[in-house]
Amino acid sequence: MCRFLKWLMIPLTLGLGTGALDAFAKSASSLSQAAMVSHRLVGSEVEAKLLRSDPTYVSIVRREFNVVVPQNEMKFGWVSRKRGEYDFTDADFIVDFAQKNRMKVRGTTLAWHRNYPRWLWDTNFSGDELKKILLEHIATEVGHFAFKFPGRVFVWDVVNEAIGPNGKPRPETIWSKIGQNPGDYIPLAFQAARKADPTSELFYNDYGIEEVNSKSDAVYELLKSLKAGGVPIDGIGFQMHIGFREPLQMDSVRKNMERFSKLGLKIQITEFDYLLPNNPSQELLERQARAYHDAAALCVSTPACEAFLSWGFTDAHSWIPDFFPGYGSALYFDEKYQPKPAYQGLLSGLLLR
Ligand code: G3I
Repeated sequence: MCRFLKWLMIPLTLGLGTGALDAFAKSASSLSQAAMVSHRLVGSEVEAKLLRSDPTYVSIVRREFNVVVPQNEMKFGWVSRKRGEYDFTDADFIVDFAQKNRMKVRGTTLAWHRNYPRWLWDTNFSGDELKKILLEHIATEVGHFAFKFPGRVFVWDVVNEAIGPNGKPRPETIWSKIGQNPGDYIPLAFQAARKADPTSELFYNDYGIEEVNSKSDAVYELLKSLKAGGVPIDGIGFQMHIGFREPLQMDSVRKNMERFSKLGLKIQITEFDYLLPNNPSQELLERQARAYHDAAALCVSTPACEAFLSWGFTDAHSWIPDFFPGYGSALYFDEKYQPKPAYQGLLSGLLLR
């Protein structure tokens, strides 16, 4: 985004010249301009290999976003191939790209039940050894970015998807061996992240918790008890991996966001995508556009909601076809990087139009 736009925003942000703001809003020709009007962050997961090799991909990221999140490059299995050894090359490339383009970065994720390094998976470590490994990992990774790119990684998904479908901490995660109960590692992870970077926002991130339901009730009780216990937790990430089969009831999502914000938590929509069958009909594409619109508008109209990120932005690079064969088309640029109806839906939602 050119420097002029930044300068333009100073008087506008001060509430002066709101007429100019309206004019600017009407002329918003990118998602990041629309987000700036609404004082929000808008972005996507990105891949280092595409930032290195695909100029069209890079030009869209630079034009459309003011925040990015590495898809996999910060995950434990990616950065640590041997115990005690780290390679942050790919993650650093993304954070450096963001810094050069005045973007913020979401860090994901520190404690999760997937993407372990092979060495962790192959050894039967004791609970005490796993506690040491987890705390060392968090201190190393969060400390690395806090030192090399101070303030740039403004939020970490410290714990990802810890609550299972039954509303209890997942027993299958390797971290459940820490302490007496499956969830004992959770406060430890947040405390370690806070110690490693006192300035970063510390989030819990999960899917299937967007509406008021049994899983979001369990997450609500977990975060409420963590906060009551003085655990340093600042926010909740709603991944919002949705689709044509399970549209969100937006009133329920609004109520859900309100109750989490009443806990004093910030909110981010962290991984939005809207799964469709391959070669979707125009009707399905328009339904997808409304879903992007409604989610972005809800974030903008919820004071605690600070960011809307999608999990990818072009159907040419989405996780969905690999994991759900026959489905995809979940994003707002098509395989040829052309905007779909969902792009306009997202843009107008950010502007509350
Ligand atoms: O890097 C290895 C490569 O060396 C190997 O040859 C190849 C084949 O086995 O695998 C590569 O690792 C893959 C990795 O993506 C990087 O491409 C893993 O197998 C694969 O499981 C992994 O999938 C990622 C998944 O998280 C698990 O980490 C997806 O790309 C990523 O989109 C997905 O993202 C998650 C969020 O982190 C959390 N929320 C849900 C979301 C979708 O599952």
